[in-house]
Amino acid sequence: MASDTPHDHHDHQRHDHQHGHVHIGEAEWAALAAHAELEAEVLLQFVTDAVAWAGELRHPNAPPVRTIIDIGSGPGVGTCELARLFPEAHIVAVDGSTAMLSNARRRAADHGVSDRIDTHLAELPAGLETIGRADLIWASMSLHHIGDEVGVMRMLRDHLEPHGQLVVTEFGDPMRLLPDQVDVGRPGLAARLDAVAASWFASMRAGLPGTVPSEEFPTMLGAAGYDVHGSHLARVHLPAPLTPSGRQFALTQLQRARAQFADRLDPDDAEALTVLTDPDHPSSLLHRDGVFVDASRRVMVASPTEVE
Ligand SMILES: C[S@@+](CC[C@H](N)C(=O)[O-])C[C@H]1O[C@@H](n2cnc3c(N)ncnc32)[C@H](O)[C@@H]1O
Repeated sequence: MASDTPHDHHDHQRHDHQHGHVHIGEAEWAALAAHAELEAEVLLQFVTDAVAWAGELRHPNAPPVRTIIDIGSGPGVGTCELARLFPEAHIVAVDGSTAMLSNARRRAADHGVSDRIDTHLAELPAGLETIGRADLIWASMSLHHIGDEVGVMRMLRDHLEPHGQLVVTEFGDPMRLLPDQVDVGRPGLAARLDAVAASWFASMRAGLPGTVPSEEFPTMLGAAGYDVHGSHLARVHLPAPLTPSGRQFALTQLQRARAQFADRLDPDDAEALTVLTDPDHPSSLLHRDGVFVDASRRVMVASPTEVE
């Protein structure tokens, strides 16, 4: 139902009504932090599974992972999971948002891993000079916010230790929260929301500094000088009935879509979303039966191409 594209708060969203470029600034990231934390908690399995899979694909001569750079760490849920899964590792969480990084520090303290997690404020592609090298560079749902994705992935090569891995997680299929046929609004709401999300996303990309057209990530990884050792579509399916936090996530995910896409939606669809996201309405995602979470991510494991 809802798209999975990042962003929040209609009030703060800056774009013109002729569908000019969308810009996500610090106010928007700060407003998104709590939802991003809940989303990452609900979908934590993506991180756990990707770490296990990357481990299987590691070079046989690779040393144990002792240093990790988490690019676009956001609120730090993935960062703390990396700290749990690599108990010997020191992690640098890199993000362009002070609010996200302060959330990440709070979370690291809550999880008792502050001594192994540093935060580094950087608006990529700038600000990587002092972050050093790592055995593992993790970039989950962050590279699509950078205008020149190939350029930044090429830069990241210089921050990998020998036999180091870059693990990239990006959008898979659009998220679904409801069956295709819902008893609110016109049929086909989910497909129309997907189209709106795609147009919003193109507008967001068009507004990024130094933006260049994207290609499929495995292709861009090749262009940036990596061998892709694996690329697959990972799925997390949380069936109905959801846990309270799963249900809360489903509700806020659709509320975000309602706000984020406000001026791109058909009035009928906006009205349907208003009903589905009104916590006091019996038809809302908070109260109706059959709400689930069906999410997917493309996960890629790569390492720099070795030059003979
Ligand atoms: C959708 S969140 C992903 C959070 C987390 N990695 C996850 O998978 O749940 C994207 C993060 O990338 C950060 N980000 C966006 N553009 C960035 C840039 N140019 N440099 C550094 N971080 C950036 C945002 O501040 C945000 O925290």
